[in-house]
Amino acid sequence: MVKAKKTDEPVFDPADGLPVMKVGAWSEEKHVALSRYIDSARQARAKWPYASFIDLFSGPGRVINRESKLISDGGVLSAWRMSQQGGVPFNEVFIGDVDAESVQACEERLVAAGASVRAYVGSASSTVDEVLAALPRGLHFAFLDPFSIEHLDFEIIRKLSLRPNIDILIHFSVMDVQRNIGGDFKLPNSRLDAAAPGWRENLRLDAVPKHEQVGTYLQYWETLVSDLTKMHVAQRKPLFVNMNRGPLYRLIHLSRHPLAQKLWNTAAIPSSRQQSLFDS
Ligand SMILES: C[S@@+](CC[C@H](N)C(=O)[O-])C[C@H]1O[C@@H](n2cnc3c(N)ncnc32)[C@H](O)[C@@H]1O
Repeated sequence: MVKAKKTDEPVFDPADGLPVMKVGAWSEEKHVALSRYIDSARQARAKWPYASFIDLFSGPGRVINRESKLISDGGVLSAWRMSQQGGVPFNEVFIGDVDAESVQACEERLVAAGASVRAYVGSASSTVDEVLAALPRGLHFAFLDPFSIEHLDFEIIRKLSLRPNIDILIHFSVMDVQRNIGGDFKLPNSRLDAAAPGWRENLRLDAVPKHEQVGTYLQYWETLVSDLTKMHVAQRKPLFVNMNRGPLYRLIHLSRHPLAQKLWNTAAIPSSRQQSLFDS
């Protein structure tokens, strides 16, 4: 009898023999929104002598849909190819990941696709310093795509925001917040602390109905981000849902330039397969 393959077995792309990351179907929508934005920001990029793309949670660069088994480009490769197709490629792509094998695979793939790459292995909380030290002046776009909110250290955003011409797209895990917020509220330490320091001291969550708690935390995070970075949270914050329409994450765009906000608000219009439960 042939044994079924274990789901945690690594998968390799037959096209290049390098590892791919297993993702849910909803990941594709994220890459579509990201690529649409990169495409629409082409003219803004063209005005700058130097433009970079930064991804501190890059993964291996290619993903496999767990259900359909279809292999496709991950975030940074989609973004790079879109910038190239549009005729205004990023001058450099900065990647980082805590997993060395992923960084190596991602770098190889980007280089094969024609990108000029600087690669870093380590936690985003430390690679952010290395990237910023090496980053020339110019227009920058950072994509922060961690698996869980625990890794969305607020300091990463604060440090990136010190660059005057940067916008940041953030994967904000609504599901993580929803799972942990009730239990963590009274704990001395919480998985939600790194993303939104002080949330337990500043929010009267015991007075907030359960179904409003995630929204309250997100609002607190947004206030913290806008106050400390002087960046604006774009109006569109598309919510991505799973097969059972359970909320997974939002994509949140931060910038200082009104044009960047406008471009994101258009790029982020949810496709028919998604819903925007809390969008204004
Ligand atoms: C959601 S995946 C990234 C997917 C990728 N951005 C894409 O679109 O294809 C998250 C990645 O973060 C990495 N990771 C986990 N914790 C990290 C940390 N603290 N710092 C940097 N990378 C981390 C994981 O190894 C994984 O590759």
